[in-house]
Amino acid sequence: TVTREFTQNMPKAELHLHIEGTLEPELKLKLAKRNHIDIGQETIAEVQKTYDYDDLASFLGVYYPAMNVLQHEQDFYELAFSYLKRAAENNVRHVEIFFDPQAHTSRGVAFEDVINGLHRAIVDARALNVDADLIMCFLRDFSKESARQTLAEALPYKDMFIGVGLDSDEHNNPPLKFARQFEDAKAAGLHLTTHCDIDQKDSIEHIHQALELMDVERLDHGTNIVEDPDLVDFVVNHQIGLTSCPLSNTYVSPKMKGEEVLSLLERDAKVSIHSDDPAYFGGYIADNYYALAEAYNLSKEQIVKLARNAFETSWISDEKKAIYI
Ligand code: HPA
Ligand code: ZN
Repeated sequence: TVTREFTQNMPKAELHLHIEGTLEPELKLKLAKRNHIDIGQETIAEVQKTYDYDDLASFLGVYYPAMNVLQHEQDFYELAFSYLKRAAENNVRHVEIFFDPQAHTSRGVAFEDVINGLHRAIVDARALNVDADLIMCFLRDFSKESARQTLAEALPYKDMFIGVGLDSDEHNNPPLKFARQFEDAKAAGLHLTTHCDIDQKDSIEHIHQALELMDVERLDHGTNIVEDPDLVDFVVNHQIGLTSCPLSNTYVSPKMKGEEVLSLLERDAKVSIHSDDPAYFGGYIADNYYALAEAYNLSKEQIVKLARNAFETSWISDEKKAIYI
């Protein structure tokens, strides 16, 4: 059987991880103090008491205000370096890290402070044997114009990130809203992914758009695709990755979307396991694998297959892939 130790020791690729979602209560309090920001809580227990959500919107309502404590380049550095240290300890060999520049630039933080801090941590983490890249997400509940501006601001830093994605509130914010930015990003040589959030009303329609009209290479969450057999054929044939996050799914379903993951695994779809916002959902990547393994009595072969799918659908070079697969 699969033990916690097995999921810990297995080499892993993390493809669905929001860096802002790794802000642990300790660091949140430390930065609040250093930057003289009143977040309304003074102890870890008080911070944890605010972590009470039952859907995406209520989670985002806790998540975004907390980012106020991130003000300076050094804050972003410490956020990312703390995460990468933990990733290295957990045998994560490769990470593709989401970041939300608009959540910071909209508060007056400079784009360059965000990306330079994150990038500097990634460079320093190479000494820990963890290899990391950045994926810039557009906040889909912000305007197209804001996304356009953000991409224009980001392109001069194109060597510091490898792709773009979409996150935040999906309701009434379909992928096609950002068709133009995705086209421009692709033309600039960037990879494409998008959240197709679990149980959002139009998520199947959103998956259609993302796959058929926008050439995305992965879907973040997206496992409710099992409702549409033709779309499942599409992701199988095109080797589209689906990045499922069991623990963050518990706010929509105590079953962690395990049945969907297993059904996709059986169809040989490239589904994989990740941690989303680990500081907010009670576990990093090994915990996510283990929670699913325990609840569904998964075999080592199934767990290894999920881990291999992550490396296969990652955006590392073929040479590096050959090392892990
Ligand atoms: N969905 C949408 N937005 C997010 C998420 C998510 O799972 N995590 C962080 N921002
Ligand atoms: Zn996510």
